[in-house]
Amino acid sequence: MATSGMIGESRVSDPVTIVIFGASGDLTRRKLIPALFIAYAQNLLPATFAIVGFARRDYDDEIFRDMMAKDIKAFSRVPANEETVARFVEHIRYHKGDISSPDAYGELREKFRDTETYPENRLYYLSIIPSLFEPAVGLLKSEGLIAGPGSSLWTRVVIEKPFGRDLESAMALNAALLGHLDESQIYRIDHYLGKETVQNILSFRFSNAIFEPVFNRSYVDHIQITASETVGMESGRGGYYDEYGAIRDMVTNHLLELLCLVTMEPPGDLSAEAIRNEKVKVLNAAQLDIRKDISDTVCRGQYGGGVDEDNQHIKGYREEDRIDPHSQTETFAAMRLKIDNWRWAGVPIFLRTGKRMAKKTTEIAVQFKVPPLQLFQHVECKEDVCDITRVKPNTLIFRIQPDEGIFLKVGTKRPGMRFVVEDVKLDFSYSGTWSKSLPEAYERLLLDTLHGDSTLFTRSDEVEAEWRVVQPILDHFDKLKPYAYSPNGWGMPEADWLFHCTEGHWRNE
Ligand code: BG6
Repeated sequence: MATSGMIGESRVSDPVTIVIFGASGDLTRRKLIPALFIAYAQNLLPATFAIVGFARRDYDDEIFRDMMAKDIKAFSRVPANEETVARFVEHIRYHKGDISSPDAYGELREKFRDTETYPENRLYYLSIIPSLFEPAVGLLKSEGLIAGPGSSLWTRVVIEKPFGRDLESAMALNAALLGHLDESQIYRIDHYLGKETVQNILSFRFSNAIFEPVFNRSYVDHIQITASETVGMESGRGGYYDEYGAIRDMVTNHLLELLCLVTMEPPGDLSAEAIRNEKVKVLNAAQLDIRKDISDTVCRGQYGGGVDEDNQHIKGYREEDRIDPHSQTETFAAMRLKIDNWRWAGVPIFLRTGKRMAKKTTEIAVQFKVPPLQLFQHVECKEDVCDITRVKPNTLIFRIQPDEGIFLKVGTKRPGMRFVVEDVKLDFSYSGTWSKSLPEAYERLLLDTLHGDSTLFTRSDEVEAEWRVVQPILDHFDKLKPYAYSPNGWGMPEADWLFHCTEGHWRNE
């Protein structure tokens, strides 16, 4: 059985044809082709491979290759050597066709008769709108382009989120895909799982014996997971985003995946199934921490307009391109969850995400309880305002991006005559420790699909468990009208209410 992390940097051995559906889109140009190029430049792709771009635009092989060569130079994480790019694009071909029309698949099958050019193991990457997932897979199946799971050749299908719009549609999508494919052939990509720092959560938790004993309800006060972004609706994202909003776009996948990694039980081994089983278990135990009403547990927001430092107008969400001027879609969401199991019962878990916020930050903060006896309180005055300063709780922060690293906040004595305790940071940062630049999420994930390692991909029951957590919110949107918040801040004060008048508050750092 493939074990994640053991094979990541070895060369893929099986010859393969990679077909990218929706090849004229942004994802192909900015992420997929540059990621495949880096794998090629590092000699990680197999000796024989073909990449086929499948889309409707009127390109041919030459035009498409030239475009991809330019995109590699523009978007590759490492400098792209001219000669290596030229050798790489020789493997690229273009297939013009309508993804929803059977003819296009018949023509593809004809091309695939040339098995020297197009190896028979196939990776289909569906970078297309979700409503086309099932028709595309159905046509691949009916045209005989999918090898059965028991065959000596393999077929794998990668799909990009969103995996449905709610629990019901996610279940219908899973059922439809599983009508044509075996679960082991489906790779649901969540690019957060490809981030180096996200993978490090598991390594850190389960390779350091000192933290595990305190990762539970006896020592942890609460956990906060934040993914804030400064961007709004740039690059024409409005159309998609207005249909989905922050909860569907970020919470039901990235944020809940982070929650799984930081709260799941240790798996018995590192196999894909063992890890995913533990994730599903913790998701099944997670739910909104509702006291009286759903509105004391969830907060939705939408950014309004404002002005920047140069007094220039910042567009509010409803003024953005391709957004309904009366839209009620949230661009910010915060919520309070609980996990009903022995480890986490009674520990609130806060999730928050938003666009047009003060800073781009993704982090998980595990805040521990304060010591049982406050020995080091003191009075501190600024001008004529005095306050009692107490020891701050220890916080362990997994910083996913930027400044990737892990930090532990501890109290230490400030030098001087008095016993005054201050917060300092014990830190490990990737940039300070290793000179190597971190691989892009897609580099790792694409190689994993070629190796057949599904550890970092979401299983169907995991997707459904994620939707189950947020479904009560979707059912009550009318009770949770979005509040307006100012751009370039930290959302709105109402999000602090989720702490239910305790001393807790969001870390806005
Ligand atoms: C995507 C969302 O999945 O993740 C986007 O659809 C979001 O709305 C993006 O901007 C954030 O990814 P990252 O890697 O920049 O944190």
